[in-house]
Amino acid sequence: MSSSTFIPFHMPDIGEDEIHAVVETLRSGWLTTGLKAKKFEEDFAAYIGSPHAVALNSCTAALHLALDAVGVKAGDEVLVPTMTFTATAEVVHYLGARPVLVDCQPDTLNIDPQAMAKAIGPRTKAVMPVDFAGQPCELGNILNIARDRHLAVIEDAAHALPARHRGSLVGTLSDITCFSFYATKTITTGEGGMATTANPEWAERMRMMSLHGISKDAWKRYTASGSWYYEVEYPGYKYNLTDMAAALGLVQLKRAEEFYQARKRIAELYDAGFADVAEIRSPVVRDDVQHAWHLYVIQLDLDRLRIGRNEFIEALKEDNIGTSVHFIPLHLHPFYKRSFGYRPADFPNATAAFERIISLPIFPGMRDEQVNRVIGTVRRIAERCRR
Ligand SMILES: Cc1ncc(COP(=O)(O)O)c(C=O)c1O
Repeated sequence: MSSSTFIPFHMPDIGEDEIHAVVETLRSGWLTTGLKAKKFEEDFAAYIGSPHAVALNSCTAALHLALDAVGVKAGDEVLVPTMTFTATAEVVHYLGARPVLVDCQPDTLNIDPQAMAKAIGPRTKAVMPVDFAGQPCELGNILNIARDRHLAVIEDAAHALPARHRGSLVGTLSDITCFSFYATKTITTGEGGMATTANPEWAERMRMMSLHGISKDAWKRYTASGSWYYEVEYPGYKYNLTDMAAALGLVQLKRAEEFYQARKRIAELYDAGFADVAEIRSPVVRDDVQHAWHLYVIQLDLDRLRIGRNEFIEALKEDNIGTSVHFIPLHLHPFYKRSFGYRPADFPNATAAFERIISLPIFPGMRDEQVNRVIGTVRRIAERCRR
């Protein structure tokens, strides 16, 4: 093990303003969903330029409520990229529907629109494009295909704040877009999520279902202006965001642009640092998007190396560098193999990419010397293990 200090894969950037905002909320006497959560929704909607934003306690909750709002039901099929986190697909199961997996493009690792179109069947109700690593999918193509076939588009933008597709911010394009504020994401509330939509009925349905299916503004029950009376319209869920989390989110949202610039700079340093290393492929970014750089995922050229991805990660670890792998494609997990009989060859691009991908450290507080150390170590390993 090297004597150098550990470079974590991720470190949240929490300043004094965030700490102050949370402490102030703790002292206020109102901890759960209230005015702070409402303000967070308003500020988020204004930032994205979306008519409605619904604050929730995770992106998983947002994805679940979004599918419910557009009417996905038991027996329906929903198209989900195999190159994603399990959350995207598991919510389809919550509703008794079936996730149908779709392969990725070999370069961007985003869902392949052609493969998506081929996977549409008579039961398909919705598609869930995931903006992998923070790069928007080919949303123009995807929305066209979906409109033609009358499918709802629920975008999983857990990685994609702030990201743009042809100049428009992600969150304004799909029927419903879901963001994550999990601890490692581009802004955080510890745990949290947001759903944006232009459709007021879907927003209202998601808001109601996030608080037990109780009619309007259930959180007001315990305020001076509230009433003890409530009516249960549907058997809902418990997905509301607390004011403690929203207080943190309000400050983080103000810093979204600062965080984005810092991440972008690190990505540029990495790009330049690996440009002349044939064994390392930097992320491919389409020229009509703004990549949010939640993740910086390199692909190893295994034909040029004597070691595989796992050994490469071990070598980075020996030099005290934390990494991760995004993602183990869903079709390689026991549940999906067992339930649907998926085989590795069914999704050749995702299967091949999985053998080659490593997510390098990228977080706003990462110092240049840390970025340079990661570049130096990656270059040394590539050189040492060259075929
Ligand atoms: C692509 C993707 N979708 C959804 C989620 C779920 O987000 P959350 O933890 O906020 O529920 C994650 C979390 O890492 C993710 O990476």
